[in-house]
Amino acid sequence: MSRSTQSNPKERDFSLVNIGQLVTNNSSLGTGELGVIENAAITVVAGKVTWVGASSAVDSSLPKVDAQGRSVLPGFVDSHSHIIFGGDRSQEFAARMAGVPYSAGGIKVTMAATRASSSEDLKANAQSLITEMYEAGTTTVEIKSGYGLDVETEKRSVQVAAQLTDEVTYLGAHVVAPEFANDPDAYVDLVTGEMLNACAEYSKWIDVFCDRGAFTGQQTKKILEAGISKGLLPRVHLNQLEQGDHIQMAVDLDCASADHLTYLTDQDIQTLARSQTVAGLVPACDFSTRAPHYPRGRDLLDAGVSVSLSPDCNPGSSYTTNMPFSIALAVREMHLTVDETIYAATMGGAKALRRNDVGHLSVGANADLVLLTAKNYIHLAYRPGVPLVQKVWKNGTLMFTKGDQG
Ligand code: NIG
Ligand code: FE
Repeated sequence: MSRSTQSNPKERDFSLVNIGQLVTNNSSLGTGELGVIENAAITVVAGKVTWVGASSAVDSSLPKVDAQGRSVLPGFVDSHSHIIFGGDRSQEFAARMAGVPYSAGGIKVTMAATRASSSEDLKANAQSLITEMYEAGTTTVEIKSGYGLDVETEKRSVQVAAQLTDEVTYLGAHVVAPEFANDPDAYVDLVTGEMLNACAEYSKWIDVFCDRGAFTGQQTKKILEAGISKGLLPRVHLNQLEQGDHIQMAVDLDCASADHLTYLTDQDIQTLARSQTVAGLVPACDFSTRAPHYPRGRDLLDAGVSVSLSPDCNPGSSYTTNMPFSIALAVREMHLTVDETIYAATMGGAKALRRNDVGHLSVGANADLVLLTAKNYIHLAYRPGVPLVQKVWKNGTLMFTKGDQG
């Protein structure tokens, strides 16, 4: 497979016709919450969706791409990734599968490899993971720093991330750097001071890993508030490793998302339901860390919480970029319906990034499209592990074609 970059903007103008099922995520355009249109077409001009409707009614003046009755969805929106890193932790994974529990401490192993990597190598590694994401249908990705844990490497990490996405997150507060093991508050001072000053201009978001072995609720609040005062928007890792008591804080700070949430009380769910904070579920992480259980996805949706879905790609707890795998897990293990899961992987991610131009295929949205090999989008959950993505466009530009060796 390969990426195809069309330099002539005219080449971005086309109609995709003969779509068996078009998922628009706009319920006023079709059936159900996914707004599904059967026998549909979509037109793309200058990277935007300009029309959706019946294939028989499409503007015939645009060049046509024939979907041959297959299904089309909005590109997946991955609102949680940690892909700026060096090395891997395959030995740690093998040991974990043999019984060693996951802990936040593994982050320091990746920290050493990341500090030792050039920015070029960090970029090349992240780029290869983004290529995997395209191959699996993801067209928008948030990228976190967090494996530098010193000013220079965190700055290099957000700089590299900013070359790859608009959704850059400063996560200097991933764990306390080993140099500060005896004085974690001094590390918090660094993260909220010199490191934040170095990273803010490259970042849109600030995140903190608030959990056992990482940062306390009090430290987390201080760090997020420092980021907010610098113009960054907050999001947070919560309740991955134990039941914490900080959902209300995340909501009070208007975090765009609170992610992981493997442990949740009924009260936590009610608090999220009354907020704008998206519950960012990452079941591939629960899978790869062999968490005792999956997050309460069904209960979150029943309470009216907005849910996003992400593979949480990182070298420690979840080394997969694959959204369809996460979809299969969410349906099987968290009891989301297939439609709810597809929505979480697209619109849910867009909400978690506070974006309204991605995650749906209404007129005016970015032309981020996934053409499946399957005629029915349910196959994404029904055929786990099978690569079902045929073609992917981002902003109307073809990024991936299955089998294309060019
Ligand atoms: O999202 N939870 C914190 N951070 C990552 C894992 C980091 C690591 O183990 O390298 C996560 O799972
Ligand atoms: Fe994470």
